[in-house]
Amino acid sequence: MQRQQLDGCVALVTGGAVRIGNAIAHALADEGCGVVVHYRNSAKEAEALCRALHAKGVEAWRVRGNLARASDCERLIQEAGEKAGRLDVLINNAAVFNACPMGDISSGALEEEFRINLFAPILLTRHFAGIAKTGRIVNLLDRRIAAHDTMRIPYVLTKKALAEFTRSAALALAPRFTVNGVAPGPVLPPPGKSRSYLKTRAGTIPLGSPVAVDEVARAVVYLASSPSITGQIVFVDGGQHLLGEGV
Ligand SMILES: NC(=O)c1ccc[n+]([C@@H]2O[C@H](COP(=O)([O-])OP(=O)(O)OC[C@H]3O[C@@H](n4cnc5c(N)ncnc54)[C@H](OP(=O)(O)O)[C@@H]3O)[C@@H](O)[C@H]2O)c1
Repeated sequence: MQRQQLDGCVALVTGGAVRIGNAIAHALADEGCGVVVHYRNSAKEAEALCRALHAKGVEAWRVRGNLARASDCERLIQEAGEKAGRLDVLINNAAVFNACPMGDISSGALEEEFRINLFAPILLTRHFAGIAKTGRIVNLLDRRIAAHDTMRIPYVLTKKALAEFTRSAALALAPRFTVNGVAPGPVLPPPGKSRSYLKTRAGTIPLGSPVAVDEVARAVVYLASSPSITGQIVFVDGGQHLLGEGV
């Protein structure tokens, strides 16, 4: 049933070349969905991913853009639609994850995080809704939307605001679009950190272990496939959101 929903569709995955975005692109392709891989710096990885998706028998394209620029957000949607000939699904995956405790907060730090993590998904949604008759949108959030992280104050604010936008957009764009969120717990350590980082820095995980990247991708695909679910946020976090306030 899911495969029928996405077979022959085209999805744009922001920050799709590497890490979680790469897994989402593969999971969409496994459902027969073509993928437009958005990247900024990971050009080689985007090219390699497109080759891997072609090898699976689905179409794949690349688009480059800086999501900190509003003009790039509008161009990306247009370019994705033109290259692929259609656009059915938008996965807002790209983000920055900067350490920024209270003493480091500046207008520049806030602006970077908000432009990329919040303004870009909102603008992409708005432009997608402007060119497509119907569609599915999934926003990558973070289990920290149910907590506080005083080491990453701007990051957490952007994800909490994006969770609210997810619900607003679900209502504003119904019945043409569904808009949902996936809130992962610890999946991959930040670039440059080893897997042991997750054990020491990821906090308590009630179910005991970090989340497999494929599980996040499967949740995204499920939400992108469903014609009846909108305004939902699925935590894929080993139960961390149940612990509430702490980091
Ligand atoms: N990793 C985790 O454990 C975890 C946990 C909770 C939530 N999440 C959320 O899940 C999503 C994916 O996580 P991730 O760790 O895979 O992400 P990531 O590796 O930190 O970032 C994904 C991509 O975002 C792109 N990006 C960043 N700034 C950009 C800009 N200005 N313009 C265009 N693209 C930009 C980069 O693409 P290029 O490389 O092409 O430049 C980057 O590779 C994020 O939204 C994150 O907040 C992740």
